[in-house]
Amino acid sequence: MNVSGRIPREFINELLVRVDIVDLIDSHLPLKKTGANYVARCPFHTEKSPSFSVSRNKQMFHCFGCGASGNAISFLMDFNHSDFVEAVEDLAAFVGVDVPRETASSSYQVEPKKQDLSQLYSVMEQVAAFYVQQLRSSVDGKKAVEYLKARGISGTVANDFMLGYAPTQWKSLLEQFDAKTLMDCGLLGSNDNGEFYGRFRGRLMFPIRDRRARIVGFGGRVLDDSLPKYLNSPETALFSKGKEVYGLYELLAKNSKPARILIVEGYMDVIALAQFGIPYSVAVLGTAASRVHLDLLFRFTSELVFCFDGDSAGQTAAWRVMESAFASLKDGKSCRIMLLPPQHDPDSLIREQGLSGFTECIETALPLSDYFFGHFTNVLNLSETEGRAQLVSQAKPYLEKLPESVFKEMMLERLKKLSGLATLEVLENTPTVSQKQNQQQRPEQGRPALQRRTLALLIQHPELVSIIEQREINWDCLKFEGVEKFTSILQVILHEKPANTGALLEYYRNHKDEPIIKRLESLQLEIPAGNEAAEFSGALDKLFAQSMDERSNLLLKLKTTGLTLQEKEQLRELFNTK
Ligand code: UTP
Ligand code: MN
Repeated sequence: MNVSGRIPREFINELLVRVDIVDLIDSHLPLKKTGANYVARCPFHTEKSPSFSVSRNKQMFHCFGCGASGNAISFLMDFNHSDFVEAVEDLAAFVGVDVPRETASSSYQVEPKKQDLSQLYSVMEQVAAFYVQQLRSSVDGKKAVEYLKARGISGTVANDFMLGYAPTQWKSLLEQFDAKTLMDCGLLGSNDNGEFYGRFRGRLMFPIRDRRARIVGFGGRVLDDSLPKYLNSPETALFSKGKEVYGLYELLAKNSKPARILIVEGYMDVIALAQFGIPYSVAVLGTAASRVHLDLLFRFTSELVFCFDGDSAGQTAAWRVMESAFASLKDGKSCRIMLLPPQHDPDSLIREQGLSGFTECIETALPLSDYFFGHFTNVLNLSETEGRAQLVSQAKPYLEKLPESVFKEMMLERLKKLSGLATLEVLENTPTVSQKQNQQQRPEQGRPALQRRTLALLIQHPELVSIIEQREINWDCLKFEGVEKFTSILQVILHEKPANTGALLEYYRNHKDEPIIKRLESLQLEIPAGNEAAEFSGALDKLFAQSMDERSNLLLKLKTTGLTLQEKEQLRELFNTK
C-alpha cells in the first residue's frame, strides 16, 4: 500500500454513502430505537439518561448533553481517539473495502518520487539497536552506563526507553549503511567541503518513537559538562518536532488511557519521573507545546498538567501555552499549571520530595481557570473601574478562543463577576451552550429565524436543493443580514450534492463554517415528515417577499417622511444587484 498519497475525496464521499451510521455506532455501543432516532448514553461524557442520538436520515450523531456531533468518520475519530486517516481506514474496513490513494499525476516529472519511508524507519531501528548494543557492551558505553547509574536510572527503565550510546567512532555506521540513507535519517551532517560527519558522537542516546513504535528521531546528551548539552535530530522525512512528543509511546505502552499526562521540558525529566514512579509524563522537544501537541495528547487523556520552572522564564512559558491550551479545551478536558519551586526541574524535585511529595504538587497545581484569572488579578486593582475595565479588555480575547462549552460559559460568568458588569458584550456575540439549547426549545419566530430555519432545513435535507434547481432564482434579489453565508452554503450544496447531512458536514471538516453547519444541523424544526419540500418552497417564497417588502417600505418612506442616512444606505444595498 502506498501510504504517502492522499485519500481521494470521492472515495470518502462514497464511503459515507455506503456506510449506515446506525449500524456503525451500534457495533460500538448498543443503540435503542425511539421514534425516528436511535439513542444511547453518550460515550463522550458521563450521564445517567441517554441524550446521545443517532439519525439514519441525516447520517449524523448528536449529543444534547455535551454537544458532541458529527458523521461516521467523526464518531470513529472521537470514539477511538484516532486521527482522520485512521478513522477513514477503520470505516473502510467496516464496509469491507480498501482505501485507494491518489498517485502523483501531472506533477510527477517535477517532483522527485516520494522516498519509500519504510526503508528509513528500518535503518533508524537498526541504528537504535546498535546504540543499545554499544551501551551494553562497548568499553566507551560503560561510561554511559555509569552516568545513568549515577543519576539513579535502573536497567529496566533504560530498557523501556531503549537508551543507547553513540560511540565517538561514528564511522562504524558507514560500514553498515550508505551515507545517503544516513543523511536522510538525520544521522549525518555535511560540512562546507561536502564532507560527512556523524551528528551524534560520544552521547547518551534517547530514541524518539512515534505512536506506532517507529523510531523517528534521536536526542543525545553529553556525559560531561561540554556543550551543547543536548543534540536533537534535525527535521527529516520521518521527524517533525512540532508534531512529536517524547515518551508518549512508552507511556501508552504501560497505560493506554492515563487519567492525566504531565508535560515536562526534558528527556531526563521523563526518564527520572518514570524511574521514581510517575510513568505518565512526556516532553515536548525543545519547543513550546503547540495546539497540535495538545490535541494529540487530549486524544488519550482528559487532563494535562504543565510543569514549568517557577522563575520568570517559566512564568512566561506558562502564559504562552495558555493560547494553545484554550483552543484545545473541549468539554470534559482540563489543564493544570504546575509551577516548580525555584532551581528545580521535575527530575530534581521528585528526587528531593519523593513520589508522594511530587504527587501532592501535581494535585495542588492550579487549574487553568485559576491560573488565568490570577494572572490578571495579581497585577490589576479590581477595586477601581480602570482595573476592572482592563481585566475585561485583556481577558476577553483569550476567552473568545475557547470552543463553545460549559467551561467557556463558566469562564465568562467568572469574568462578569470579577468585573462587576451585568453583561459582557462578548456574551451577546457568541451564543453559549445554554442559550443555544434555549433556542432549540423555543419555537423559532420572526425574521432572522426564517433565514435560519430555511438554511437549517436545507442542511438537514440536502436533497431539497432540487427545488432550487427547478426554479430560476435570481439570488441577487435576496437581501438580508448574513445573506452571503446563506448563499455560500447553498452553493456548496448545489455543487457537491451531498447525499445526506453527514456527507455535507464532511465538506466542512476544519472549515471556519463547520460550527454553523453543526448548529443548524441540530436545530429542532418540528416539521411533520413528508412536509419538508412544501415547507422549504414556502420559506424561500417568504424570504424573497420579505426582501421586496423592505424595499417598498423604504421607497414609501423616501417619498413621505424621508430617510435617515443609514436607511438610504440600506436602500442602496437592496437595489444593488451587482
Ligand atoms: P535542560 O537543560 O533543562 O535538560 O533542557 P534536562 O532534561 O534537565 O537535562 P539534564 O537533567 O541536565 O540531563 C531541557 C530540554 O531542552 C532541550 C532538550 O530537549 C532538553 O531535554 N535542550 C537543552 C536542547 O535541545 N539542547 C540543549 O543544549 C539543551
Ligand atoms: Mn534536569
